[in-house]
Amino acid sequence: MQNNSNKPKLDWDTLGFSYIKTDYRFIDRFKEGQWEEGALTTDNKLHISEGSPALHYGQQCFEGMKAYRTKDGTINIFRPFENAKRMRRSCERLLMPYYPEDAFVEAVKKVVKANEEFIPPYGTGSALYIRPFMIGVGDNIGLKPAEEYLFSIFVTPVGSYFKGGLKPSNFYVSTYDRAAPKGTGAAKVGGNYAASLLPGKEAKERQFSDAVYLDPATHTKIEEVGAANFFGITQEDTFITPQSPSILNSITKRSLMWLAENRLNMEVKEGDIYIDELDRFKEAGACGTAAVVSPIGGLQVENDFHVFYSENEVGPVTRALYNELTGIQFGDIKAPEGWIETVS
Ligand SMILES: Cc1ncc(COP(=O)(O)O)c(C=O)c1O
Repeated sequence: MQNNSNKPKLDWDTLGFSYIKTDYRFIDRFKEGQWEEGALTTDNKLHISEGSPALHYGQQCFEGMKAYRTKDGTINIFRPFENAKRMRRSCERLLMPYYPEDAFVEAVKKVVKANEEFIPPYGTGSALYIRPFMIGVGDNIGLKPAEEYLFSIFVTPVGSYFKGGLKPSNFYVSTYDRAAPKGTGAAKVGGNYAASLLPGKEAKERQFSDAVYLDPATHTKIEEVGAANFFGITQEDTFITPQSPSILNSITKRSLMWLAENRLNMEVKEGDIYIDELDRFKEAGACGTAAVVSPIGGLQVENDFHVFYSENEVGPVTRALYNELTGIQFGDIKAPEGWIETVS
């Protein structure tokens, strides 16, 4: 595809996590019970009815993944079929029609290819963030599912999410809940994130990177670290991550679990992580598409500040996991079967 953008020169090394308009996005419409063809467009504005259920009742969901430029110039997309499957589950939770998995991945590839110029070069540590989303639209006012939907995918180049990249940062345990015990915490839906804005703001005002949420039923166990999953490395070298029906099932977390077990020969467990048992961990971190692997230096729990490995240095297991994961994503380390989709 001919690219005629007048994009400003981007400083790949200092990219943050903010919206930069790229040239093309994919859009498809669901009408009268089926998806249309879907196509790329240069228009980054949506024109929707004021009655759209996405606007009033939060009938929407989204995904997030990244494309990486490898040393030999190939474009790697990390596990997009997993995002397609998770989006299907989010759609089902909100009574939305899902986008078929093969069509989802094909559309992701189309958008990435069309915006190839915006993929940060190998070696900068930056990547192209891919944001698929679906919204319920149309003339509605009653609380019921929409009859029409828009599915779109846009991309934007990003650097690291937490300031400092692979440097420890501090978090604090919020007294707010992110999601209800049997609510929508496991779905990637906007309402969860709207609910996290205030606790996130309070955390940042207190100089923490973000809020850590406890389980909403008992407030005794760690659930999420902002918009990332939690993992801890025990004194006995076991990789542990919370198991709960109200957290988002992180694709990065599942990947780290596999890597810890198969590449680092560690024990791996999903289980309860009690907030009053932090001494069992020698390292802890947050993981996600945006967060990648971010070491947690310290955690403020009420009036106590608990330091894991160090407030300034990265623990060896966290570093090994980071190196393994990013090595695979940027094409320097052999990926397990089916983890990488390339774009040509
Ligand atoms: C609430 C929440 N938890 C965890 C994650 C990590 O999930 P993934 O690794 O699939 O990006 C995300 C998204 O990045 C998230 O928004």
